[in-house]
Amino acid sequence: MKILIINGPNLNLLGKREPDVYGNTSFETYFSQLQQTYTDCELSYFQSNHEGALIDKIHEMGFSFDGIVLNAGAYTHTSVALHDAIKAVNTPVVEVHISNIHTREEFRHKSMIAAACKGSVVGLGLFSYELAIDFFRKTKKA
Ligand code: DQA
Repeated sequence: MKILIINGPNLNLLGKREPDVYGNTSFETYFSQLQQTYTDCELSYFQSNHEGALIDKIHEMGFSFDGIVLNAGAYTHTSVALHDAIKAVNTPVVEVHISNIHTREEFRHKSMIAAACKGSVVGLGLFSYELAIDFFRKTKKA
């Protein structure tokens, strides 16, 4: 099955960025571990700091993939356009966050995309991505 992971702004700096919040592992390192673990999946990865590029990628892949795992970074809290893009495609999207957005600053408590997503996994570090992938693997129709 084909699963796309999309990371939004500043997530290209994982491993360097606020390691006390986001850990010491770069996403590239983590992604290659995921590829070694999930040999039954075709995993793809896209990252952008630009809202429109994230929307374009959802449009491009959102009719042919089995699942999208989306960490929209700070756009989570602001982007009606991402909400609409998720609703516009037929690939289910699971929202993920490394940190627990509900225990952080108040402006992070609201997700503009949650209601458009199949579900959300928050606060479990990089495991959040694995749980989202497992959801797609375990609910795939034969
Ligand atoms: C984040 C949480 C967001 O509030 C923040 O803007 C990020 C990362 C997370 O994965 O914990 O960039 O999405």
